[in-house]
Amino acid sequence: MDLREPWSIGPVEIPTRLVLAPMAGVSVQAFRRQGRRFGAGLVCSEMVSSAGIEHRNERTLGYLRVASDEHPLAIQLFGSEWAAMAESARMIEAAGADLVDINFGCPVRKVTKTGAGATLLADPDRAVRIVSAVADAVGIPVTVKLRRGMRNGSRDCLVLGPRLVDAGAASLTLHPRSAQQMYTGTADHALTAELSSLVDVPVVASGDICSHADAVGVLEQTGAAAVMVGRAAQGNPWALAEIVEGDSRSPSREEIAAELVLFLREAVRELGERRASGFLKKFYGWYLGHGRFPRQFRQELVVLDSTAEVERRLLAAAPGAIDLVDRLEAEIPPGEAVTLELPISIYGGG
Ligand SMILES: Cc1cc2nc3c(=O)[nH]c(=O)nc-3n(C[C@H](O)[C@H](O)[C@H](O)COP(=O)(O)O)c2cc1C
Repeated sequence: MDLREPWSIGPVEIPTRLVLAPMAGVSVQAFRRQGRRFGAGLVCSEMVSSAGIEHRNERTLGYLRVASDEHPLAIQLFGSEWAAMAESARMIEAAGADLVDINFGCPVRKVTKTGAGATLLADPDRAVRIVSAVADAVGIPVTVKLRRGMRNGSRDCLVLGPRLVDAGAASLTLHPRSAQQMYTGTADHALTAELSSLVDVPVVASGDICSHADAVGVLEQTGAAAVMVGRAAQGNPWALAEIVEGDSRSPSREEIAAELVLFLREAVRELGERRASGFLKKFYGWYLGHGRFPRQFRQELVVLDSTAEVERRLLAAAPGAIDLVDRLEAEIPPGEAVTLELPISIYGGG
């Protein structure tokens, strides 16, 4: 099984069989662009609220930015009202996304209490109505990400999945845990295999895939077209290269510091200094953990006042990273050149 083989969702060609998972509070553009560089064939935004889009919430609209080097890219939507979901999907298409993904898996109460996310697994008629309205509204393929069901042991995804395909879903991603489970226990990929056998669109397997061996095992066990990787990639883009290529070379301290500096600069460009400095704190531990840097050093970074100060400390701890950062910045399109393919009307009321 070669994860470097291309596959497709409808007309969208995807160069590798690794999809970078949508993760709220993580999957910013900097994360997605880095994921593409390290071998993800498809990247996905974190879930975006259709109510937020409908009300032209400025922060929500910020999630619709697409950079030229992210393609192919899915933007993920959550919501419970089919008309608002269809309208939001049109804006996602206009923003330049290649796919619109619908979230029927989020187990977090803030989302489920509004009838969105995993709640829709227990409200199949509404879920089907949403997918069919969104598929009618846009020309790009519509995909759906599901959990197995609301309750432990549920097999609802096996009934709902084929109905969503009939309604127009061009691919399904299954994270085979229940909403009740949150992230406890393990992902039951026997269910992913059953789902794959029931539908004639590509299925993506999500959950607990951390290594090349895991990925090959899950693809063989399930007949899925691709694997999705989430937590294993947090602060660890090298895991993506290992999963796609089986190349288990550990990064040097300089490479780690250089990637983190680049990530930090991009996050600041994207979110502004104030939001970025809070957002970035969890990444320091993720990047510098795994025995890569002393614990005390990580703790020092978290309490610094500015990201410029963090960058200075990182480069002082790994001076060889300075050249690497320059080289990386020369190779990838600069932030300023990134196209912001948002139609002006999104910012206006129109
Ligand atoms: C911090 C975090 C945020 C997440 N946010 C989303 C999200 O916005 N949309 C979604 O469909 N799944 C979300 N997920 C679920 C992941 O996409 C993925 O299905 C799950 O983590 C299992 O894969 P993993 O074991 O590779 O992490 C999130 C997971 C985590 C850990």
